[in-house]
Amino acid sequence: MDLAAVGTDVEKVIATEEQLAAKIAELAARVDADYKDKNVLLVGVLKGAIMAMADLTRAMQTHIEMDWMAVSSYGSGTKSSGVVRILKDLDRDITGRHVLIVEDIVDTGLTLSWLKSNLFSRGAASVEILAILRKPEAAKVEVDVKYVGFDIPKEFVVGYGLDFDEKYRNLSFIGVLAKHMYS
Ligand code: IMP
Repeated sequence: MDLAAVGTDVEKVIATEEQLAAKIAELAARVDADYKDKNVLLVGVLKGAIMAMADLTRAMQTHIEMDWMAVSSYGSGTKSSGVVRILKDLDRDITGRHVLIVEDIVDTGLTLSWLKSNLFSRGAASVEILAILRKPEAAKVEVDVKYVGFDIPKEFVVGYGLDFDEKYRNLSFIGVLAKHMYS
């Protein structure tokens, strides 16, 4: 879906389809170089990371394995609850594996800091994070995110996997949701 199709629901574009593609290519090249011969396991966080995972892995030139987790930290609103629950766990054991978490956005950082230590505690050889977006002003905990697409202001964004109440995930770009949509 493009901007014209959502009309006034989106008040500002944060990253166009072209900017996302260029950034993904850049991140893929870095991940390729860093994980050469390491048989990296990419762990996508459902559902927000689906677009990033699909595009990143296809831009990569090394073999990867893919697994998925679903965790809940948000209800149907726009505020982080800080409570993380596993809704879908990994399919495989990750002992000794080099894990790269693929996430849509780091907001408060609560989800990723929890997830990173959770995966470490299962015996992974390494756990790093790739996030398409990060809101530095919203951070409540320090999380080391090795690969960041774009740092953005503390605003509620949708598109490219990111939703509001399950809507807008299929926007080809990322934009700020207009306030009148949720206030
Ligand atoms: P955190 O635990 O506060 O860092 O939040 C992480 C999760 O909240 C992300 O994986 C998203 O699913 C969701 N989230 C945070 N900010 C936004 C946003 O601006 N738009 C859509 N979802 C968001």
